[in-house]
Amino acid sequence: MISPVLILFSSFLCHVAIAGRTIICPPPSIPTFATLRVYKPSAGNNSLYRDTAVFECLPQHAMFGNDTITCTTHGNWTKLPECREVKCPFPSRPDNGFVNYPAKPTLYYKDKATFGCHDGYSLDGPEEIECTKLGNWSAMPSCKASCKVPVKKATVVYQGERVKIQEKFKNGMLHGDKVSFFCKNKEKKCSYTEDAQCIDGTIEVPKCFKEHSSLAFWKTDASDVKPC
Ligand SMILES: *[C@@H]1O[C@H](CO)[C@@H](O)[C@H](O)[C@H]1NC(C)=O
Ligand SMILES: *[C@@H]1O[C@H](CO)[C@@H](O)[C@H](O)[C@H]1NC(C)=O
Ligand SMILES: *[C@@H]1O[C@H](CO)[C@@H](O)[C@H](O)[C@H]1NC(C)=O
Ligand SMILES: *[C@@H]1O[C@H](CO)[C@@H](O)[C@H](O)[C@H]1NC(C)=O
Repeated sequence: MISPVLILFSSFLCHVAIAGRTIICPPPSIPTFATLRVYKPSAGNNSLYRDTAVFECLPQHAMFGNDTITCTTHGNWTKLPECREVKCPFPSRPDNGFVNYPAKPTLYYKDKATFGCHDGYSLDGPEEIECTKLGNWSAMPSCKASCKVPVKKATVVYQGERVKIQEKFKNGMLHGDKVSFFCKNKEKKCSYTEDAQCIDGTIEVPKCFKEHSSLAFWKTDASDVKPC
């Protein structure tokens, strides 16, 4: 049987807590596969309203939810995050290239792999990728063929500068390299540029570009004609 005195007493305690407005949270529980990275109880072993604690997942585990919890007005903590083990498949070797990754039986969250290409090829994508919390890789780069310089000689614009294509790219153009060729507008006697880009071994010279024979010394190259 519960005595009326006990009921009175407990309702008294409750009033004290509310009147004092001291809100405390007990030490937080710790999610599996997590550790407390930041935690400082500020009221004995307990925490006060708005205090925070920060969790960290064990290696190979990714966090789902917020790493930071806060002591609420209800005297409990905001939702705990979850830590889950995350594995990624072995990344496959790209055609005409290679991939390196840690020599272990399984690859996990945050593990990295690096890529490279054989001569004559260049990487399309980042050199380094990371195993994401979704269990896949941040990117999957491939190797794309470089281009031979498509004309004997020409002055072109590359990254905002005029360069001689045959000198600047004597070792070939890399996949993605973009240059602007000069063309002539015969009626207006002025020059304009058109872009060309090396895409996986192929670059198309703009149709308006005319390559002069080196014997035709009397012809003015389009790159020396005033811009339209
Ligand atoms: C905090 O907890 C420890 C271990 O449970 C206990 O020995 C200690 O007395 C507590 N301190 C306070 C201020 O409650
Ligand atoms: C995590 O919680 C903190 C504190 O409650 C908050 O400031 C932050 O915006 C939250 N972060 C995310 C990503 O939700
Ligand atoms: C905290 O307590 C309140 C009131 O009892 C409840 O509604 C809320 O769901 C609790 N929060 C968490 C994260 O358990
Ligand atoms: C990883 O997987 C998620 C979910 O399946 C997908 O939305 C995301 O685009 C993938 N990321 C990459 C880089 O492929």
